[in-house]
Amino acid sequence: MENLLQDSGLLKTDSYIDGAWITSNTTFDVINPADGQTLVSVGNATDSDAKAAVKAADDAFASWSSLTSYDRADLLHKWHQLMMQHQDDLALILTLEQGKPLSEAKGEIAYGASFIQWFAQESIRVYGDTIPTQDRHKRVVVIKQPVGVVASITPWNFPNAMIARKAAAALAAGCTFVGLASGLTPLSALAMAELADRAGIPKGVFNILASDDAPSIGKVLTRDALVKKFTFTGSTRVGKILTEQCASTVKKVSMELGGNAPFIVFEDADIEQAVQGALASKYRNAGQTCICTNRIFVHQDIADTFTEKYVSAVTELKLGKGIDAGTNVGPMISAAAVSKTHDLVQQAVAQGAKLACGGNLSPLGESFYPPTVLTEVDNTMAVAQQELFAPVSPIIQFNNEAQVVAMANDTPYGLAAYFYSRDISRIWRVAEKLQFGMVGINDTAISNTAAPFGGMKQSGYGREGSKYGLDDYLDIKYLSFAL
Ligand code: SIN
Repeated sequence: MENLLQDSGLLKTDSYIDGAWITSNTTFDVINPADGQTLVSVGNATDSDAKAAVKAADDAFASWSSLTSYDRADLLHKWHQLMMQHQDDLALILTLEQGKPLSEAKGEIAYGASFIQWFAQESIRVYGDTIPTQDRHKRVVVIKQPVGVVASITPWNFPNAMIARKAAAALAAGCTFVGLASGLTPLSALAMAELADRAGIPKGVFNILASDDAPSIGKVLTRDALVKKFTFTGSTRVGKILTEQCASTVKKVSMELGGNAPFIVFEDADIEQAVQGALASKYRNAGQTCICTNRIFVHQDIADTFTEKYVSAVTELKLGKGIDAGTNVGPMISAAAVSKTHDLVQQAVAQGAKLACGGNLSPLGESFYPPTVLTEVDNTMAVAQQELFAPVSPIIQFNNEAQVVAMANDTPYGLAAYFYSRDISRIWRVAEKLQFGMVGINDTAISNTAAPFGGMKQSGYGREGSKYGLDDYLDIKYLSFAL
């Protein structure tokens, strides 16, 4: 694999703790989902390694947090520059271990790096407050301070950007960081550690663990009292377990969990624009993002026109290996993911849904599933109620605004929602009624460094990116002065 890289030094196969690459007694294989072949074997971090990483981060905290925010920002800017300088190599590593098309992987590297740049800039604006009181002999001042060691667990679907979004905010705030990379995609995270090292980020400040035993390492990271904040991106099921584990040490916790995004096309929508929006939102990363469109609701008056145009656009998408030119949709992460998807599609068809395209197992290999559209879906079917994480579009018809808003909100999730309309009154009404943390209005490209990413209900709490993204890594302290 290293022969494919311009800079083979970016291929790292051991955990990075306290500024050093540690050796491990056992290894696990990283598999290319496009062909099932082993890319490399990676050292398997143990619970003791996790404890050592937390200790290193705790030891580094005093000096890192006492740097000026300008000094921290300089180092983050260097890290950002290196990420962009090595964008092609980082993207190739990402595509090989995760599967997404190379163009999307390049986009993810730029997206991840943009968080490092944003928080480098934002770190110098951590303002406090002075508060007038009833007592003229008192002065009240509010200051914000870094919480301490931050630990994170991040998923395989964005192996670069999800770490960058958390680590950049943590480091900018003055915290130190221990991240457990997904065992399916550790190489992107380890390459980020190599670049953090080259940028001069001091030892112990940024640590990355690679392991195929997330439950065990997760117990260390959530229960260790030295960890003052825990942040997770992943499924709601696992998020609940980790939140419980954090309770014993009452850590600050933020959770970016699953979604079930509705995509609503009202009768007054620009249909072409809606088709393109749904296509981009649904099939990005083969449907494997928390904010991917999960259910498409179309008003009955325009359902035939929308469906015809949408199916024709979906049929044009090219399924293939992420490294092949022209691929729009890569493999799913595993054969197991394909099999779960296929079961859900078949179950929907057995319950009365119709296959407009796709829906068959692909001859390209056991990790490939074709872009699929199901019509005549009912909102109560599993294909509409579950988070699909797959390149499958269930289309559901509706006949009035109140009905569709109720159906859209009829889910325990509350991450992202989208709708298309040209009626300004309706736009405000619907935007306010949707119970989701992020709402795209005639827009599905909602991932944006400068905007607060996060959910409501069982999609979690806390916000990442934006000026709000630093708050989760800061303690508010108030100083009361008697004169
Ligand atoms: C996610 O799937 O959790 C992240 C998607 C994004 O940031 O665009």
